[in-house]
Amino acid sequence: MTDYLTDFGRPRGTVPPRAALHSDAPSIDLSGAWRFRLNPTATAGDDFWAAGYDDAGWDTLPVPSSWPMHGYGQPAYTNVTYPFPIDPPHVPAENPTGDHRRLFDVPAGWAGQRVLLRFEGVDSCGRVFVNGAEVGVTQGSRLTHEFDVTEHLRPGAANVLAVRVHQWSAGSYLEDQDMWWLPGIFRAVTLRVRPAGGIDDVFAHASFDHLTGRGTLRVDAPAGALLSVPALGLHDVAVNTEHALDAVAPWTPETPTLYAASVATASETVSLKVGFRTVAVVDGLLTGNGRRIFFRGVNRHEFHPDLGRVVPPDVVRAELELMKAHHVNAIRTSHYPPDAALLDLCDELGFWVIVENDYETHGFEQIGWRGNPTDDPRWTDALVDRMRRTVERDKNHPCVVMWSLGNEAGVGRNLEPMAEVARAIDPARPLHYEGDPSSTHTDVYSRMYRPPAEVAGIGAAPTGLPFVLCEYAHAMGNGPGLLTTYRELFETYPRCQGGFVWEWLDHGIRRGDHFAYGGDFGEPVHDGNFVIDGLVFPDRTPSPGLTELGAVFAPVRLFAGAGGGLTVRNGYDHRDLTGVTLDWTVAVDGHTVESGQVDAPALGPGESYPVDLPAAAATARPGEAWLTVTARLAGATVGAGQLRLHEARPRPRRSGRRFTGDTLGPARFRAGDLVALGGLALRGPRLDLWRAPIDNDVRGADPVADRWRAAGLHRLTHRVVDLAASADAYVVTSRVAPAGTDRGFLATYTWTADDDAATLALHVEPEGEWDVPLPRAGVSLTVPGRLGAVEWFGGGPGEAYVDSSAAALVGRYRSTVDEMQTPYVRPQENGNRTGVREARLTDPTGAGLEILGHPTFELTARRWSTAALTAATHTGDLVPGRDIHVHLDHGHHGLGTAACGPPPAPEAWLRAAPFDLVLTLRAVLP
Ligand code: GAL
Repeated sequence: MTDYLTDFGRPRGTVPPRAALHSDAPSIDLSGAWRFRLNPTATAGDDFWAAGYDDAGWDTLPVPSSWPMHGYGQPAYTNVTYPFPIDPPHVPAENPTGDHRRLFDVPAGWAGQRVLLRFEGVDSCGRVFVNGAEVGVTQGSRLTHEFDVTEHLRPGAANVLAVRVHQWSAGSYLEDQDMWWLPGIFRAVTLRVRPAGGIDDVFAHASFDHLTGRGTLRVDAPAGALLSVPALGLHDVAVNTEHALDAVAPWTPETPTLYAASVATASETVSLKVGFRTVAVVDGLLTGNGRRIFFRGVNRHEFHPDLGRVVPPDVVRAELELMKAHHVNAIRTSHYPPDAALLDLCDELGFWVIVENDYETHGFEQIGWRGNPTDDPRWTDALVDRMRRTVERDKNHPCVVMWSLGNEAGVGRNLEPMAEVARAIDPARPLHYEGDPSSTHTDVYSRMYRPPAEVAGIGAAPTGLPFVLCEYAHAMGNGPGLLTTYRELFETYPRCQGGFVWEWLDHGIRRGDHFAYGGDFGEPVHDGNFVIDGLVFPDRTPSPGLTELGAVFAPVRLFAGAGGGLTVRNGYDHRDLTGVTLDWTVAVDGHTVESGQVDAPALGPGESYPVDLPAAAATARPGEAWLTVTARLAGATVGAGQLRLHEARPRPRRSGRRFTGDTLGPARFRAGDLVALGGLALRGPRLDLWRAPIDNDVRGADPVADRWRAAGLHRLTHRVVDLAASADAYVVTSRVAPAGTDRGFLATYTWTADDDAATLALHVEPEGEWDVPLPRAGVSLTVPGRLGAVEWFGGGPGEAYVDSSAAALVGRYRSTVDEMQTPYVRPQENGNRTGVREARLTDPTGAGLEILGHPTFELTARRWSTAALTAATHTGDLVPGRDIHVHLDHGHHGLGTAACGPPPAPEAWLRAAPFDLVLTLRAVLP
């Protein structure tokens, strides 16, 4: 009997949903090693739930787990497309089914007490048996289900829990989120005593009046229970009534003050953390404690590269701390309720959270939304049930700022009852749903990936709901660009209340020396690496995109003010700058000459003030001088900025030597190429216009990389047109063009040299009509692989590109060629250092090559060619060669976020126009 699989997503046998509570009532955690067997269909197998069944021949599997991560079947990735026919409510006959069994003891003392069996997450449908008796069916993978198992338990004896988990069920139609399909019991399973006269549910309403500083607390709980909040002087006061509190510290993401509270009856005590805050839409703005909310948010999925949907608690805490360190103040739990413990941490650490219902039917879009569950009354029960479970479980968290009806599920008649049930349970929280742009059932207008001009238009509109970009800045591969542009829009238009970067994490699956993505498991239908689109890599190490985000959203802003001096701005929403220190240094040509520390002025939110730093003396020295200021609060960096005190003097071009034979000063040439410099073997530099396309180049509506390839920019050939020696120069003229077209570039390399070094002045002229931007514009050369140490004076320390350079500060940095690679899961252009004035690549003895800019260049160095980087599909494909490939560029095309969203802003396009690049090359001796 498997009719429950096609019952339009209705769970069976569950008790009404209630809040996740920390209770002192006895409970048993059933995590651990369970017996497991995988069947190919829903009906295969036998009556394994029987109490006396012999499972000795079965495997063991940890619970919680996603079973494909433990060698049973395979993960599969699709974004929009359902991996089964759209034939609701039916599911494929091939329906991997995991039979789970576990023996457990129940203390004799539990006899006569009511006991619930609680599942926090079963993907997608679990049929549950206790001691041979069926107790019910779960539906809604990321939702909590409880069953009353009192009459089936045997206190004082061994008991058997058996759960048959099906990968596919009608509920799968409601769970078409863009992620891996990973069946399993992936969250905790517990048994919980419900004492007679206990506290099944609590709803704490704690509001804050920003005008008076007063708080109000009402805790809904069973009549007769008593409430205590010792820090507020409340001891055993009544529940279900309002307590006015004269002065409370408000909860905000920046000041996440929590008050320990308890609700007690004679038989049970529940502990809560109460945070006082009021969220309201006032005059078209979403406000928190009277102030406009500004979401500096990320979308967060629950995923782990080794465990699938199971994310260990220490990993979760560390990732939230990483978010805080990068000034993220909001999370959208895309696209389902998270593990309940996440919200405890968000209360504690301070985040605004949009909790989203476990609901997406995006695949129906591909059939014109025909039969979409959102508009089909047969699904109403399931959808209302999902919304109710979402709100009930998490209603006590101050961090939860809005409920979201789901994601990308189209429009239809079921939105209304879903919104109604959320409002009936919790009238105080606004509703979010992006899928209905009419915002009929929501309190905010939410869109995704809107380009800057459209956001500005929305911001400038005279009336309307608060506007939220629930997804923007698609962080796939190298990028996103445009973060500063969006921040400026959010700061210009009060109605544009920020957004949530898509997304926090790359969902790569660790396999040997690389991370796998869609298609790597032989899936017949998949969406490739579209699942690799996060600010952190699958192992949660930050990508340069996160560093950029941290710089863009740093709350203490330091910039050149109107008078030319440094101005500090408090970009916090709720707190002043008390306790913030400003550490400053003055460096000339990257060498520190003076440093000190001052306290930041105690500015209120949004206020600016010039800072007077005693650094002027240092500017008397010749050289390029920079004042760098780092703002710190309790040891954490909360802002950084720079001011140029002094420009560099133009660097002299080297000249004086005459070209003789094949030699000009220290430089030796063959057929126009430089082949040696002062005894150092090298090859190049040659015009190079290609980069290994990034995801933002190859995806989206009109991928620029398609146009680059059509134009032949990846297969340029070089023909020396002329070699000419004059009294003090050697001039190589080359025509650089792809096969099959008369378009090309004329590159004129003018070399001059003194005894010590050679200067290259490159001039490039496009020939013919070039209507595409260029990937990059510069030269590349190879040097021996031993020159693996890199030092530079310029932007750093990390990767930066023209529209993603907020984190790059001018300084003197050391690294290595190996460390300068960013291991994007799908290899692509990476590792650029911007605004480089001078660089050295050296071997362990200190010998090598020095490159001096006139004035600057972009620097990339790697142990493989651009062709190899372009061809690689996984990081394991990148094999170091003998040489180092050095790229010295005049510029790069911007990053943008076109993989999903807009291309780079016009000013970040690298247009095919004449350009010059001037560099001095010098061999460095040990
Ligand atoms: C959105 C969707 C996300 C994700 C993203 C692209 O449309 O809501 O789940 O698919 O696009 O990565």
